[in-house]
Amino acid sequence: MIRNMNSYPLYDDGEHRVYWLGIEEAEDEKGILTNQYLVVDGNEAALIEPGGFFVFSRVLKNVSSIVPPTRIKYLMYSHQDPDVIAGLNLWFEYAPLAKFVISELWVRFLPHLAVLSAGRTIGIPDKGSSFNLGNSTIKAVPSHYLHSPGNFSFYDEKSGILFSADIGAAAFPEGEWYLFVEDFDEHAKYMEGFHKRYMSSTKALRAWARHVRKLNPKVIAPQHGAIFSDENVGKFLDWLESLEVGIDVFEEKFYGD
Ligand SMILES: [Fe+2]
Ligand SMILES: [Fe+2]
Repeated sequence: MIRNMNSYPLYDDGEHRVYWLGIEEAEDEKGILTNQYLVVDGNEAALIEPGGFFVFSRVLKNVSSIVPPTRIKYLMYSHQDPDVIAGLNLWFEYAPLAKFVISELWVRFLPHLAVLSAGRTIGIPDKGSSFNLGNSTIKAVPSHYLHSPGNFSFYDEKSGILFSADIGAAAFPEGEWYLFVEDFDEHAKYMEGFHKRYMSSTKALRAWARHVRKLNPKVIAPQHGAIFSDENVGKFLDWLESLEVGIDVFEEKFYGD
């Protein structure tokens, strides 16, 4: 069941904090549900996957209850989809000191969002890079073709939380919603169709899963659907490695007789 929820702490060691930024019931009717996350270290904050137009007021309200938006140093975008980026010109005003962080492939597309963000944009090179936040580091982890050709996950080293963008996304049936995955096999049913059609390449998916196993995250937090923790992190990576997705599945359907 979906109900209004404010932010929820995912990690707090006194210095370093991570929050999931809430949900409003009405969002169920305004496109696929999205997750936003805030990482705070000392006086600096990073907003991960800031989101589109309809979630802006909820995200701003919930960020403001934790830190003033003027403390946001980075707005971190996994890729260029509207559910990730369409609120960019609003954040441009409300987080005046923040830099926009996105794959360098998408930097020259940003002016089409009606902001001349040149001086405030950081393009992430294909191999990824690291960002200092207070005394902590957030790594941009390549996740190209999953699904966008210029795509990154963001790994918060201190908390061990990997923000995986659309990888791990679930599309809940109407009226259904939960924040943490409990029954993995049941949850996989809500992920399968999305991954098969939106993820581009089985090879890319397996490369990402292999790399993520080396990072050994404690939690995987996607941009849609529910969060994986404890034994569900490993079950999720196993499941990804067993999938065939994208062009490997659809080539025949699209072009076959
Ligand atoms: Fe997307
Ligand atoms: Fe998305």
